[in-house]
Amino acid sequence: MAAWIGLILMAIAIFSKGAEGRRDEVLYCSACVAIADELSYSISQIDPKKTVNVGGFRLNPDGSMTEKTVPLARSETHLSELLDGVCNNMSDYALYEDPDTKEHSYKRFAPRSSDGGNFPDFKNFKFAGPEGSDSLKFACETIVEELEEDIISLFTREEQHVALKLCSEVSGHCKSSVFQHGEL
Ligand SMILES: *[C@@H]1O[C@H](CO)[C@@H](O)[C@H](O)[C@H]1NC(C)=O
Repeated sequence: MAAWIGLILMAIAIFSKGAEGRRDEVLYCSACVAIADELSYSISQIDPKKTVNVGGFRLNPDGSMTEKTVPLARSETHLSELLDGVCNNMSDYALYEDPDTKEHSYKRFAPRSSDGGNFPDFKNFKFAGPEGSDSLKFACETIVEELEEDIISLFTREEQHVALKLCSEVSGHCKSSVFQHGEL
């Protein structure tokens, strides 16, 4: 008897894991938007005057040559480094329910030092233990793996509305909710 119950519970666990493995839009859309936000924030923290040489020279109008440089923050090497760590930041996110629309998304709950340590209103967050941010982290890693080149090229080109481009136009992870409610 107990063995049967065990089996049934296991089957349910496997089945619900499988359902989660199919792309849950709340999870994947949130993870995608979070990646864009975290990267934009990290880039904004770097002195825009810092540049790196990218090899080659540029011809100036007066005929002189200068080495070709790009802003360090948006250089490909720096962006790849940021991408390596970005999913660790998903532990700063939790499931959030919009008090008006009741829609769910994952939002950053941990304040950044530049917010002056202001905590958001916790009552709309649903802290579900580590599983919540673990599944967000997994979605994040999947997206980074799939979209690494798109992410790097959007950020090196200093595109506006990166989240919208990346998460709706390029990848389709956000098909509906977040964008229609003008969160981006
Ligand atoms: C992760 O969060 C920390 C703290 O806000 C921030 O300093 C860092 O730039 C973030 N990392 C990435 C890759 O966005």
